[in-house]
Amino acid sequence: MAKRSLIAVVGSANVDLTTFNDVFPRPGETIFGKKFDLGFGGKGANQAVAAHLCGAKVGMVAKVGSDLFGPATIKNFKSQGIDATYVGIAEGISSGVAPIFVDPNGQNRIIVVKGANDLLSPADVDAAAPLLRKADTIVMQFEIPLRTVYHTVRFAKTNGIRCIVNPAPAQAVDFKKLGGADYFIPNESEAEVITGMPVHSVDDAKKSAEFLLRQGMRRIVITLGERGCLVAGSEGWEIIPAFKVQAVDTTGAGDAFIGSFAVFLGEGLPEKEALTRANLYAALSTTKVGTQKSFRSREEFEKEWRNRAGRL
Ligand code: RIB
Repeated sequence: MAKRSLIAVVGSANVDLTTFNDVFPRPGETIFGKKFDLGFGGKGANQAVAAHLCGAKVGMVAKVGSDLFGPATIKNFKSQGIDATYVGIAEGISSGVAPIFVDPNGQNRIIVVKGANDLLSPADVDAAAPLLRKADTIVMQFEIPLRTVYHTVRFAKTNGIRCIVNPAPAQAVDFKKLGGADYFIPNESEAEVITGMPVHSVDDAKKSAEFLLRQGMRRIVITLGERGCLVAGSEGWEIIPAFKVQAVDTTGAGDAFIGSFAVFLGEGLPEKEALTRANLYAALSTTKVGTQKSFRSREEFEKEWRNRAGRL
């Protein structure tokens, strides 16, 4: 029996308002959409839910608004079995929300309004120290203030805790303040914004990863959608291929990847197997609509893994 991971996520919680349609309105135009879905989202919350469904004990450090969505988000964490002791409510502020538009190929366009996420401060991280100190891995994204991310990386390094930084959505980064992040995991477009180098091919991704390694990150994983992911470290780089699925909605696939990878790694699996499994966990999430509700339980995942891993 693998060791149970204890994952802490310092990150965002949003409510996702997803519209499915073939076309998008032009300025001044009103059109009818085909379908709508309302669900709990936010990159941090999604990663926490994925980690929990994969079997980890998970604690969330986040801030929600004092509107309808805030208490519902906390209730969602609790009902899933995620420790929400350090999810605070910011009075008079709206919760994070994300209008999402999904096209017929399952590709998404997302606008995030950060709301209360933007108030998650270094002091909130310090207050959550009793939870964070127990974690084997701390996971962060960029939907909270970057100063809070930098502070959390410092906390993780000081306390010898593995930290995974998912720089999404992409923003200019002060690499010195992120120095020592154990895993830095952007997708192609995020890598492009952060490095200022185009990432259209595997060769581009390799150059981008080399650049990021030179900035002090220990290991780089660039997720490449249908091509899998590229992992790079001081020893070189490698592509971990993706699994083929029929995608209907890719929203949250990156979060499924990060949350599940943190768990597989925390269980002590070799990195390559953890990445291969995370590729499958993420791919499976694209076969259902929504973010958190498209994520599989560990049992469902293991069944697919047994079917597919033998064919690798
Ligand atoms: O990665 C998908 C997530 O991005 C959505 O749940 C949305 O809330 C935004 O944070």
